[in-house]
Amino acid sequence: MTHPEFSMDNQWLPFTPNRQFRKDPRVFVAADGMFFTTHDGRQVIDGVSSLWCVAAGHNRRPIHEAIKRQLDTLDYATAFQVSNDKAFVAAERIASLAPGDLNKVLFCNSGSEAADTSLKVALAYHRARGEGHRNIFIGRERAYHGVGFGGMSVGGIPANRKVFGPALLPRVDHLRFAHDPVNHAYVHGAEPVWGEDPLLELETRILPLHDPSNVAAIIVEPVVGSAGWYIPPKGYLKRLREICDKHGILLIFDEVITGFGRLGTPFAADYYGVVPDMLNFAKAVTNGVMPLGGVVCRDALFDAMMTGPEHVIEFFHGYTYSGHPVACAAAIATLDLYVEEDLFARAGKMGVALGDAMHSALRGLPTVTGLRTLGLAGAVELASIPGAPGKRAFDIFLDCFHQGVLVRAAGENLVLAPPFVVEQGHIDQMVSTLAASIRKHA
Ligand SMILES: Cc1ncc(COP(=O)(O)O)c(C=O)c1O
Repeated sequence: MTHPEFSMDNQWLPFTPNRQFRKDPRVFVAADGMFFTTHDGRQVIDGVSSLWCVAAGHNRRPIHEAIKRQLDTLDYATAFQVSNDKAFVAAERIASLAPGDLNKVLFCNSGSEAADTSLKVALAYHRARGEGHRNIFIGRERAYHGVGFGGMSVGGIPANRKVFGPALLPRVDHLRFAHDPVNHAYVHGAEPVWGEDPLLELETRILPLHDPSNVAAIIVEPVVGSAGWYIPPKGYLKRLREICDKHGILLIFDEVITGFGRLGTPFAADYYGVVPDMLNFAKAVTNGVMPLGGVVCRDALFDAMMTGPEHVIEFFHGYTYSGHPVACAAAIATLDLYVEEDLFARAGKMGVALGDAMHSALRGLPTVTGLRTLGLAGAVELASIPGAPGKRAFDIFLDCFHQGVLVRAAGENLVLAPPFVVEQGHIDQMVSTLAASIRKHA
């Protein structure tokens, strides 16, 4: 199929139903602030920060200027055995923002690479300390840690795993999905208080089964993001920290979505008052403008691995583009912008407005079975169409797009997570469009 401006014959689209897309192309050609322009000249509001990336809004000049300056100064330099000045500055800035002694930044280019990097650090760290037998990872049902084999293995979204069976890592177990659709279908900003202990299973079944001394790391998204914004029970992450400490297990927070302000604090680790051993980031670190990801490690992890002869590489891992100078220049300018415009606090404030609007407009609509809002994000859950899982949400996503609002369909959920520069008027437009579409598809 061809379009006047481009042929659609060659791009195989990621995480997209390609045949449907070809019949109904959704192509952006420009963006500014909260809005995209489509190839057919329509304005569409970015209700999902372009998948949790564009926190400061589109087309931010200070970031673009920093990228242009960097291109004219040092376009690229290899990352192995040498480095570049911007990578050090970006690492320093990220480490100073991260809580506790999370001070050592390993750069990569995406959230998927961050997941695999963090798992490899865990294995290498334990081995360096003479505990190479610690090689089991524990993830969580419904988790998303990207599409590398490591991230996929600890991830828990069935569709992302089902055709890759034999290639998944063998020594992996999963915590149960911590969501109670009966007692906590509707959550607005609060932490759901559970009657039972959702981590009892970890202590009484999973760890005894493998023996805790064999477990390298537990990895979780503090708030389950890709699967549809599921908020942890009260005390869950603190308790997970205690269990990890008790057994010498590393705790990894995948903050690819929650990092850089989405909850109104720099990281979810700050929001919940829990410092992990590693913190994975990507997306909003550059406002989505350049690919950049990384893992912030506690000092002790780095220190334990600084052994052996000094001319020998301590950790055999890295990417050609680790700490790319242009991406790091974009990150520095982005972090400056977040501070100058106090955007994390703004995310917290506008998050309350988004939550209020979603709860008042969507709760009680036909087919709505749940609604969860926290920080500047919310998900409305719908009854699935029998025999067609996910179809209702996908149809609503399409309809909203045609009505000028980009929302995200995740299973039976529709998610809103706008840029932090969102105004009340944008929230009203997004929520009323979503409400009308939910009614239409009931
Ligand atoms: C929590 C989490 N981890 C990892 C990833 C993967 O990131 P990427 O698509 O940059 O590889 C994502 C992407 O949405 C994510 O939400």
